[in-house]
Amino acid sequence: MDSLKVDSKRILDNLLKLAEFTDSQKPYTRRAFSPIYYEARKWLKDLMESVGLETAMDAAGNLIGYLKCSNKGSKYLIIGSHIDTVEDAGRFDGMLGVTSGIEVCRVLHDSNIELPFDIKVVDFLCEEPSDFGVSCIGSNGLVGNLTGSHLARLNSDGKTLREAISEAGGVPDSLNAPLISPNEVVGYLELHIEQGPVLEKEQVPIGIVTGIVGISRWILVINGESGHAGTVPMSLRKDALFGAAEVISRVEKLAKDLSKMVHFVATIGKAEVLPGMPNVIPGEVRLVLEARVLEEGDFHKFEADLKDIVSEVCIARGLGYTIEQLSHTLPVKLDARLQEVIAQSAKGLGLRYLFMPSGAGHDAAIMAQIVPAGMIFIPCRNGVSHAPQEWSDEEFVGNGAQVLLNSCIILARQYDTVSGS
Ligand code: HGY
Ligand code: MN
Ligand code: MN
Repeated sequence: MDSLKVDSKRILDNLLKLAEFTDSQKPYTRRAFSPIYYEARKWLKDLMESVGLETAMDAAGNLIGYLKCSNKGSKYLIIGSHIDTVEDAGRFDGMLGVTSGIEVCRVLHDSNIELPFDIKVVDFLCEEPSDFGVSCIGSNGLVGNLTGSHLARLNSDGKTLREAISEAGGVPDSLNAPLISPNEVVGYLELHIEQGPVLEKEQVPIGIVTGIVGISRWILVINGESGHAGTVPMSLRKDALFGAAEVISRVEKLAKDLSKMVHFVATIGKAEVLPGMPNVIPGEVRLVLEARVLEEGDFHKFEADLKDIVSEVCIARGLGYTIEQLSHTLPVKLDARLQEVIAQSAKGLGLRYLFMPSGAGHDAAIMAQIVPAGMIFIPCRNGVSHAPQEWSDEEFVGNGAQVLLNSCIILARQYDTVSGS
């Protein structure tokens, strides 16, 4: 099995083919639930089937390619990631993990080498933030995290998440419990670009992820009084945007102060100003704020101070406000045994590696809630991601996929067909 080699050019070719499924006005954009997303999934399903995988859709709308072994009743290993993107995204975030998982199965299938367990390659539905205010929809659905109130969330077209999951091929009514049972799973592996500058700066080809940040998102709505921008004296105004601006600058200072003490980042990536006319005093501002931590306790400190800042500013300015939490995923530590397997795999290939946390969120953070999860990082050019310039050289792609394949082989050698672990 040690002579098995992935074909890095094939993976890169598939990544570039996937990239063609994009909103032509904003390459590379393939938002979940969009027509172009479903076209890409059809292409992916055909690719899975062409390399010998059986395909299926689970109740959470995840597309699964299944490489079965003849060892009846065996467990299975899950290799996953996502092919949906943010707006104006790149060509590797998520897609690398899915195409490399398919390549691993293709190499095993073409060489007639069977592992003692099945492999499921999963394209998780909607990993990125969605209009429903929920991300990692497919992996959350798979582990049983989606509640009735999540499924009732509406997008800007008035469609419920329940309807969207059905349209994607899922069965929302079956999502009231996990879709898998942990004791049937060997573990979960995800290959991903680092989406940051560390590996490139340290000139290390492989990252072994030790933990993934928790991400909390809130929607802050600040209400004032809209009015004629030319006639209302400044002393009588209740300008929602000026109030929001004071909140924003104080939240930035809070985040910077916290980041000097712990792993902490925060940003406001979405802002709406209503009614949005240059000659009308803004009556309402809607901000989506997100914060990321490696230790859960750091969320609570931030959230308490956030609420103090918003109420202080709004009371002083006679503004109304609401703060509602949109989503909250806890920080997770990744499985120590899988970290060791990945390290052994990299070592066996003579590749230097670095143990490091992930500042980006991933489906692995959700999967880690119920099965042992491991992540492999490769460098990306200038640490850029979530942008059209996102890129990783074929050599790095090959390294990552080979470490993924050899990790599967090491797990196979460690697998005890009797106990199934
Ligand atoms: O937002 C993230 O960290 C991930 O790329 N979805
Ligand atoms: Mn992303
Ligand atoms: Mn991703």
